[in-house]
Amino acid sequence: MTTVGPARAAAPAAYAALRRQDPELAEVLLGETARQATSLQLIAAENFTSEAVLTALGSPLANKYAEGYPGARHHGGCELVDVAERLATDRATALFGADHANVQAHSGSSAVLAAYAALLRPGDTVLAMGLPYGGHLTHGSPANFSGRWFTFVGYGLDPASGLVDHEQVRALARAHRPKAIVCGSIAYPRHLDYAAFREVADDVGAYLIADAAHPIGLVAGGAAPNPVPYADIVCATTHKVLRGPRGGLILCGADLAERVDRAVFPFTQGGAQMHTIAAKAVAFGEAATPAFTAYAHQVVANARTLAQALAGEGFAVSTGGTDTHLVLVDPSPLGVTARTARGRLAAAGLVLDTCALPHAATATEARGLRLGTAAVTTQGMREGEMARVAALFAAAVREERHVREEVRDLAVRFPPYPARTGGEITSS
Ligand SMILES: Cc1ncc(COP(=O)(O)O)c(C=O)c1O
Repeated sequence: MTTVGPARAAAPAAYAALRRQDPELAEVLLGETARQATSLQLIAAENFTSEAVLTALGSPLANKYAEGYPGARHHGGCELVDVAERLATDRATALFGADHANVQAHSGSSAVLAAYAALLRPGDTVLAMGLPYGGHLTHGSPANFSGRWFTFVGYGLDPASGLVDHEQVRALARAHRPKAIVCGSIAYPRHLDYAAFREVADDVGAYLIADAAHPIGLVAGGAAPNPVPYADIVCATTHKVLRGPRGGLILCGADLAERVDRAVFPFTQGGAQMHTIAAKAVAFGEAATPAFTAYAHQVVANARTLAQALAGEGFAVSTGGTDTHLVLVDPSPLGVTARTARGRLAAAGLVLDTCALPHAATATEARGLRLGTAAVTTQGMREGEMARVAALFAAAVREERHVREEVRDLAVRFPPYPARTGGEITSS
């Protein structure tokens, strides 16, 4: 039976011991499990990992110290975690067609930090997408190490199309002679033209770093172009469409392998998190299956349907649609700002982010709403459900009252972790 109001999941066996020992914390886990199961996770950077990934994350590999790399550790007892890390690196290189993979980066930001450490010196100039256009904090924010330690120059997006203006990128590269060019974004809904970035990088003698944190899962599933043949270093996260544990991944050619590895350990990190690396191996194994290929294509089909349906509801859709899991919309045609809309959506159980909105003609503020279809697609939702989500989305922004219950009813039909909720969500 499903009920409206504060909810928590029926306690699965996995939580029983924790519940006995630490009921306070167990309630948090049960409550969060229920929150995820009874609302719609439309945050573009989130997904639901498999139970197998969660098993690796919650395994005794979490206890193991393993500074260094397989076969060359600073700690004893690493024979088995070495196998786990080799599985992860072998699977990653095969999946993405890279010579070398480093799977130790603790996060996407750590991966970018290591890429800069491998290629740059403090003070070097870097050309990256400006933050107001969708660049990540690690692409030159003054609040981040990147903006403090390097001289960032930002490129924008074409005001009419919302697309990367490669002539502007080339002009800025020629004017500033950057040591590296970064391509990648937190909100760009279209495929990047890696060949065009490579051409500009070669023109000015710069390294090309692809920060593919968002599209890398689509790349794994053959639903987005692969930056590996073009970029000197590809940085990524493993927890978005790729559906692995929270963490980072770095891919590069054999020529940079040693520099990249040393940039991760010992330059920017200490001991590797072996439980996370094992979980990355599980995720890479899953991502190599035909089922994941079908998933990645469904993610895009769902995002396209969602974008089209939201346009039909009156939202201004950035770039007119999407090639990826990401949809960026401006709610101002409905008479609300993105912040107000996000609050109304959250109250209705539609969980998502606001995001910089470049050049929206009708924007009353420079922010939009960023949605992603990775999590709802993992739950098994398809185009029909996306049309329903768009209708609920518009109703929530208009503050219609029935929406929270309808969102809950839709969500519980597609349980992300049936074994953890027993298919049953109750009020607390
Ligand atoms: C383009 C890009 N780079 C880097 C990151 C940083 O990843 P993390 O949050 O794991 O540090 C993100 C995260 O969303 C991202 O979108």
